[in-house]
Amino acid sequence: MPIPTPGSDSKAAESKPADSASASLDAFARRTLADLETRALRRRLVETERGPGTAARRGARSLVSFSCNDYLGLSDDPRVIAAGQEALARYGAGAGASRLVTGNHPVLAALEGRLAAHKGKAAALVFGSGYMANLGIVPALTGSKDLVLVDALGHSCLFAGAQISGATMLRFRHNDVEHLRAILSARRGRHERALILTERVFSMDGDRAPLDDILAVAAEHEAWTLVDDAHGLGVVEAGARAPLEMGTLSKTLGSYGGYLCASQAVIDLMTSRARSFVYTTGLPPASAAAALRALEIVEAEPERAARPLALARGFTARLGLPEAASPIVPILVGEAAAALALSAALEARGFLVVAIRPPTVPAGTARLRVAFSAAHTQDQVDALAEALIDLGMGGV
Ligand SMILES: Cc1ncc(COP(=O)(O)O)c(C=O)c1O
Repeated sequence: MPIPTPGSDSKAAESKPADSASASLDAFARRTLADLETRALRRRLVETERGPGTAARRGARSLVSFSCNDYLGLSDDPRVIAAGQEALARYGAGAGASRLVTGNHPVLAALEGRLAAHKGKAAALVFGSGYMANLGIVPALTGSKDLVLVDALGHSCLFAGAQISGATMLRFRHNDVEHLRAILSARRGRHERALILTERVFSMDGDRAPLDDILAVAAEHEAWTLVDDAHGLGVVEAGARAPLEMGTLSKTLGSYGGYLCASQAVIDLMTSRARSFVYTTGLPPASAAAALRALEIVEAEPERAARPLALARGFTARLGLPEAASPIVPILVGEAAAALALSAALEARGFLVVAIRPPTVPAGTARLRVAFSAAHTQDQVDALAEALIDLGMGGV
């Protein structure tokens, strides 16, 4: 890319690559985009103002958003905002360097203590995001002699962590404990260590992992288990705990960042060996302070947690869908173009409900993903159900 000289037209400079390498790069990008476009798989950022509450604004249009993971409406809770603002004013905008370089920040240490206690673990470590956490955790625990088993519908960052580790990676059928057991029976003996990766609540399907059974199979085969709790924390969290409980600060906690809760030994190992922790700047203190305040609210006001699931269940009953197991309800459409068209039709009626397409979900299972929040009113949920029925998507 040529560097525009003062007075030159930088737009023109951008559109005319100066050399053949830049030209082939742009040609590759355009070809790939054209292919994605043909398959209705191109993604675009749409300028959207979020809030207050579940409101969203696109251009002149006001929408009710069902496309947000702020399940308890804490991202704009005045107490959470105040905690972030106070930390911002006191400590500045950024962390300055990796926590191992610039020194550990007391706000991060306080957050880690609270997360560990919340999960009933000895210790916790905060990462830059949930995605970065999994990119660091899995390779710090496994390598080329090891076996990593991932639920087939696991999040992209679980697969990415497994790939980076260099371990043999195998998928087990979604929530299929017998398949998991069969793979471990056949393959476990060939590997030094084995690690199972699953989610408490699946991000695009809203169903839950059979954790008791997975942990039992793991114990039979001396395999470790990591549960990604990105969509469970504070909302659908009861039940068994895995030895490795990771998640995000960006959904129910309304802020930004990721975490791992585990034994002290595991957290100490991560502090030395998780590359996405060691070699990256610490989380901004304001994000940590906001998440900490949100976690305090989650614990102090347990009645909030019940609302998104109750709204989701009323919605699934109204549409004749399988009963919701979490605040996430998928409405399967099939082809990507059809899912986009349905999302656009809802937007025209005042609802923001994103279409989820491959490769986020398997081919042929494009869907609308409806996410409920404690901040939704019953009227908003009823109106969405009516609109979907009117568009031919169910109705009982
Ligand atoms: C299951 C799951 N794991 C991890 C992540 C990544 O978390 P973060 O957004 O903090 O990177 C997400 C969401 O984006 C997710 O849905």
